[in-house]
Amino acid sequence: MIASSAAIATLSWQGRLRVERDVEAVAAVVAETLHRGLERRAVLGLATGRTMEPVYGALRSRLMALPQQQRRSLLQGWRSFNLDEYVGLGPSQPCSFAAFMQQQLGIPLQLEPGCLQVPDGLALRPDEEAQRYAAAVSAAGGIELQLLGLGSNGHVGFNEPPCTPDAPCRSVELSQATRLQNACAFGGDPQAVPPRAITLGLREILGARELMLVVTGAAKAQILRRSLLEPPCSEVPASWLQAHSGLQVVVDQAAAAGLVLS
Ligand code: GLP
Repeated sequence: MIASSAAIATLSWQGRLRVERDVEAVAAVVAETLHRGLERRAVLGLATGRTMEPVYGALRSRLMALPQQQRRSLLQGWRSFNLDEYVGLGPSQPCSFAAFMQQQLGIPLQLEPGCLQVPDGLALRPDEEAQRYAAAVSAAGGIELQLLGLGSNGHVGFNEPPCTPDAPCRSVELSQATRLQNACAFGGDPQAVPPRAITLGLREILGARELMLVVTGAAKAQILRRSLLEPPCSEVPASWLQAHSGLQVVVDQAAAAGLVLS
């Protein structure tokens, strides 16, 4: 279903934007895309955050419904790289993205260790780890299908504004806005959110063959509008995605509210 054909036609979004009724419908669409990616042995780029929880729930349900043999052979070919990780957190810490991925996918799907690659937040030299991680992505042939959420300040991964489209995989300082947004995973205290992270850069993200930006909820409507409908700029890192010919955007009606031109 399309929110506003006028808006979409004017801005060349036809075919690139999918507006679904609600979070569950969004999750079903994205999970199907990930399932198809697994079937063709694509290297997946995965994301964390609340937006992805229903997506991974729907993916788990789809995969668990498969006959065991079929599921096993599908999961044996799993190769994914996550976007980011907090500096100072590792898999044994529940707030790390490595732990999130294990909870969401690794443990329930019994994935082999090493299937779900995440930057090593415990590395003593985060910038060297970022270089190693970028090299591992490159050695895998790059990312074929990159899943992306949207930060409330327009970040993708942890590419905080301002950010140019050539920014590489690196360690970054997190903005106050991001630490506030992510505080819910740290007992509600923004100061408990690590101040730094390692993130794939826009360079690697834009190098993926397909991008799937997933945005839900009314709170993201305005930043989604700026990301998709305003000229690309460093102040809204997600706006650089517009130029990618393989971009698909999947949103719910609440997030799409700002895309309707009256
Ligand atoms: C986090 C992650 C992003 C994620 C975004 C949205 O900080 N680094 O990769 O997509 O912010 O999070 P949420 O889905 O919880 O709104």
